[in-house]
Amino acid sequence: MLPNIVLIGFMGSGKSSVGRKLADMTGHRFIDTDKLIVTRTRQPITSIFKYNGEEYFRNLETEELKKLADLTGIILATGGGVPLREENREILRQIGPVAWLDADPDEVFERVSRNKKRPLLQTENPRRTFDELRQQRIEFYEKAADFRIDSSRINHSKTARKILDETMRFQAARSPADS
Ligand code: S3P
Repeated sequence: MLPNIVLIGFMGSGKSSVGRKLADMTGHRFIDTDKLIVTRTRQPITSIFKYNGEEYFRNLETEELKKLADLTGIILATGGGVPLREENREILRQIGPVAWLDADPDEVFERVSRNKKRPLLQTENPRRTFDELRQQRIEFYEKAADFRIDSSRINHSKTARKILDETMRFQAARSPADS
């Protein structure tokens, strides 16, 4: 049986688009932690950061993740900061194999700079903030991930296919009797 699949990675790495493709391919339900928070608070993420602060947002992320821990048949796309907390990393592990979606930084920055939806990048020098933040995050993505997928210069469908192949390989190695 196909397990849940968890997608982690930096903003703009394609988690939501690739996650939706994966849901189409597998019949799993697509869930996005950012969407859960927006639905729950009825506020866009930018205003949660502005009026309640980052810590409040991070607590909402952890609360929403806890509710997902026992679900099956899901593809979960997570906000780029979710793997920062050890508590969150544990919940992700419980949900399913964790795929780290990574791509060429120039390509990713190009994507994220097209809109103003990322509060953490609303600084005087967004490119520098992007590079610094990405650098700081790598160790957490490494800790949280079961495998890394490079999506540079390939489309969402191909990336989704790569993740599916890797998930099957990972699952077979973890529990040979079930595969
Ligand atoms: C964040 C990433 C965003 C969103 C929030 C904070 C982060 O999600 O959760 O703006 O800390 O990296 P995406 O990774 O989907 O852009």
